[in-house]
Amino acid sequence: MRNRSFLRWLNLSRKRLSLILLALVVTAGALLFGAYVRAQQPVTISFLLRAVEADQMQGLADQFMAENPDIRIEMVRGPNAADAVENLYTTSFLLGDSPYDILFSDVVWIPKFAAAGWLTDLSDRVSEADLADFLEADVAAGVYQDGFYRMPFRSDMGMLYYRTDLLDQVGLQPPETFGELIAASETMQDQTDVNWGFVWQGLQYEGLVTNFVELVAGYGGFWIDPDTLEVGLDQPAAIQATEFMKGVIAQGISPPGVTNYIEEDALRQFENGNAAFMRNWPYAWAEANRDGSPVAGNIALKPMVHSADEQPAACLGGWGFGISATTPHPEEAWRVVEFFTSPGPMKDFITEFAYVPSRRALFTDPEVLAVFPQYEQLLEVAETAVPRPPVGQYAQVSDILQRYLSAAITDQMTPEAAMQAAAGESRRVLGVDG
Ligand code: GLC
Repeated sequence: MRNRSFLRWLNLSRKRLSLILLALVVTAGALLFGAYVRAQQPVTISFLLRAVEADQMQGLADQFMAENPDIRIEMVRGPNAADAVENLYTTSFLLGDSPYDILFSDVVWIPKFAAAGWLTDLSDRVSEADLADFLEADVAAGVYQDGFYRMPFRSDMGMLYYRTDLLDQVGLQPPETFGELIAASETMQDQTDVNWGFVWQGLQYEGLVTNFVELVAGYGGFWIDPDTLEVGLDQPAAIQATEFMKGVIAQGISPPGVTNYIEEDALRQFENGNAAFMRNWPYAWAEANRDGSPVAGNIALKPMVHSADEQPAACLGGWGFGISATTPHPEEAWRVVEFFTSPGPMKDFITEFAYVPSRRALFTDPEVLAVFPQYEQLLEVAETAVPRPPVGQYAQVSDILQRYLSAAITDQMTPEAAMQAAAGESRRVLGVDG
C-alpha cells in the first residue's frame, strides 16, 4: 500500500518534472533566441544637430550604415541656431543619461561640456601624429586641461560676399575698409536695382557674436583675452563695432529686419538678388551659386572689411564630434566619429556643400581645388581666424554679449551704455571685477 501510493506520487511528480524541464528548455531557448536576435540588431548611435546640416550629412550617414550594418546612425534634427542646439544638449546632459551618444559640437562648447564631465576623453584613441593634419585651432578647440574631447569635422570662418556684376556696373573695386563698404553699398543702392547694401546676422543668438568678433578685431580690439581674462568690451574698438552694426541699419544699408536674421535669412536675401554684400560662412557659396540661383556666377567672396590701419579678421567657427561619457556604446560611437573625420568622407562632404575642411591637406587637394579654386587662399584665412575665447563660462559671456548687442542695434540702449553694461556683467561672470 505504502509502496503503491509512493509510486503514484512519484509517477505524478515525474510528469511534473518533465513539464518543468520542458518549460525550462523552452524559456532558455527563448532567451538565447532573444539574445541572438538582439546581437543581429544594429546598435543605434544618436546625435542632435542643426536641421540644415542633418539634411546635408545624411548622405555620409547612409554610406557609413551601408558599410557598417551593425550600426545605425540616428541624426536628430534640431533648431538652426547653433546655441539653441547647445541648450538642448545641455538640458539632456543635466537630466542625466543623455539620449545622445555623440555631441556634435560647435567649436566653442568643449570647455563647458568637458568640465561638467559629460564627455569621454579621446586622448587614447588619437595620437598627435593623427592630429597633425588638422588645423591647429580646430584641434586646440578640443583640448580641455589634459584631455582631448572633440575630433574636428569641418572648420568655418566668416567672409564677405559681394556681387561682382553690381560692382562692375558702378565701376567700383571690392571694398577693403568699413567706410568703403558703406560707400559702395550706398552707390549700388542708388544706381542699381538692388534693395539693400549689406546683410548679416543680427538676431540675438551666437551668430550675432561671431559677426561682432570680426568687427571688433577689424577695429583693432578684442572681446575677452583668454590668457588674462581681460574684457575689452568697454574699449573704443568694441563700441565702434557696435556703432557700425547700429549705423548700417540706421542708414538703410541693412534692412531693419536684419536684427532677426540668422545665416539662412541673410543668404535668402543675397541669393534672391536683394543685397549687394553679405557676411556669411563659406557654405553660402555653394547655395548662392547653385544652378537656378538668381545670382549664380555673379558672386565672389573675400576677407571681411576692417578699419584702414587694421587687418581683416574672420571669426573661427566649425563643428566636430565628442563622445558622451555615459553612452553604452563607446566603441560604436568612435567608429562613427572616425568615419566622419577621416579624409575621404570629409572631402566628399566639403566638396558637395562648400564647407571648409578641418584637414589641411584638403585645402590644396587638386580635386577640391577643381571645384573651389578659392580654397588655396582660404587656408591662410583659416590659420589666422580669430577664435572666440575658450573659457568655461563661454555660454554665459556669449549670452551677455548677445543681449547687449541686441539692445544696442534695436535702439534700446546706446552702443556705449550697452558695451559698458556688457563689460561689467562679463567681468563678474569671469570673476575679474575686483
Ligand atoms: C556656424 C559656425 C559656428 C558658429 C555658428 C553661429 O555654424 O560654424 O562656429 O557658432 O555659425 O551661428
